[in-house]
Amino acid sequence: MFLGLMKKCRSCRRFDNSVKISDNDLTAIMECTRFAPTAGNLQNLDFYVTNDENETAKIFAQTKWAALYKNWEPAPHERPTAFIVICTRKNLEARRNWLRIDVGIAAQTIMLAASNIGLSGCMIGSFNEKVLLEELKLEETHHIELVIALGKANEKIVWEDAETPNDYAYYRDENDVHHVPKRKAADMIINK
Ligand SMILES: Cc1cc2nc3c(=O)[nH]c(=O)nc-3n(C[C@H](O)[C@H](O)[C@H](O)COP(=O)(O)O)c2cc1C
Repeated sequence: MFLGLMKKCRSCRRFDNSVKISDNDLTAIMECTRFAPTAGNLQNLDFYVTNDENETAKIFAQTKWAALYKNWEPAPHERPTAFIVICTRKNLEARRNWLRIDVGIAAQTIMLAASNIGLSGCMIGSFNEKVLLEELKLEETHHIELVIALGKANEKIVWEDAETPNDYAYYRDENDVHHVPKRKAADMIINK
């Protein structure tokens, strides 16, 4: 059921670092992503896909996690074991606003595709782009728009109805369960 997949597909920030993501799983996720729509069907996004241990460590080092959890990041045994880095091309700068919409659609497609095969992910928009471009040897050609961490979840996450429009702050309870408030659909619709 699609609603079930949407509810299950939460941002995960604590993974089981001993579970490596296979090439097959990454191929399956990208096979879904190729069918995501793009403005004008131009399909101009490029993806850096890796499950290599050295590369994932380098990418992880440039990412920032859970702004609401001060001074926290996944411990070594909780780190993701794959990344998909979504890039736009520098020579398409004029279309970057459109391309960034494509990025969002591709990103959620990756998240859903991962969830659907029992994996979890987290979109990371907060990262050191300059260093990451150098690490990935893309500085001449690309911008990095979004990084997606992937792995096998090793944390409990629940969603709950947001009580007020400003109730957006995710939190961990005394049992270390991550809670994610979500506005009710009726509260999101302005023309009622
Ligand atoms: C565009 C975008 C950028 C994000 N950047 C980060 C980030 O840099 N670090 C992080 O830990 N989470 C990041 N997230 C995850 C959000 O914090 C998360 O989606 C939000 O807390 C809601 O939780 P949910 O994804 O489980 O619904 C990002 C999400 C989106 C959509």
